[in-house]
Amino acid sequence: MVGMSSLIFMLSVWLVGAFLVGSTLVAQEAKGSAEAPEAEVEQAYTMRCVACHGADGNSQLPDMSFTDGVWKHGSSEEDIAKIITEGVPGTAMMPFEAQLSPEEIQALAKYVRQFDPKLRGAEKPKG
Ligand code: HEC
Repeated sequence: MVGMSSLIFMLSVWLVGAFLVGSTLVAQEAKGSAEAPEAEVEQAYTMRCVACHGADGNSQLPDMSFTDGVWKHGSSEEDIAKIITEGVPGTAMMPFEAQLSPEEIQALAKYVRQFDPKLRGAEKPKG
């Protein structure tokens, strides 16, 4: 027969175990979503944007080009993230809010800015 005290002991072991496993999972989750790594951003761009914007963001249509130095809706990371989130009503540029996390959208905004030689910045001159 199992005594009351050993039942309580087993229950508390189980509870501590469940707590430890739970908090480890939460910690991993938080780490994973901190910032999307480069490869993931590239993959997201290839999957969702390339068809319209071109492999190097060099679409022949000016409104869709990321390389011509013209950013119709603003060139800051914030402006671009907003466009990706909300889309441009009345155009083929649809909102990606439902498909991408805010972190992914932020990473994509950074990524597409890099296609513009002017925004790529002075710290990385073309050689
Ligand atoms: C179905 C075609 C299509 C897809 C897919 C698409 N876009 Fe667009 N995008 C457009 C069009 C068309 C415009 C131009 C809208 C306009 O006339 O202002 C545009 C505009 C933009 C702009 C604004 C450019 C500027 O000059 O201000 C950004 C930024 C952008 N897209 C990012 C993205 C990203 C990132 C993705 C992938 C997550 C994506 N787009 C997917 C068609 C598309």
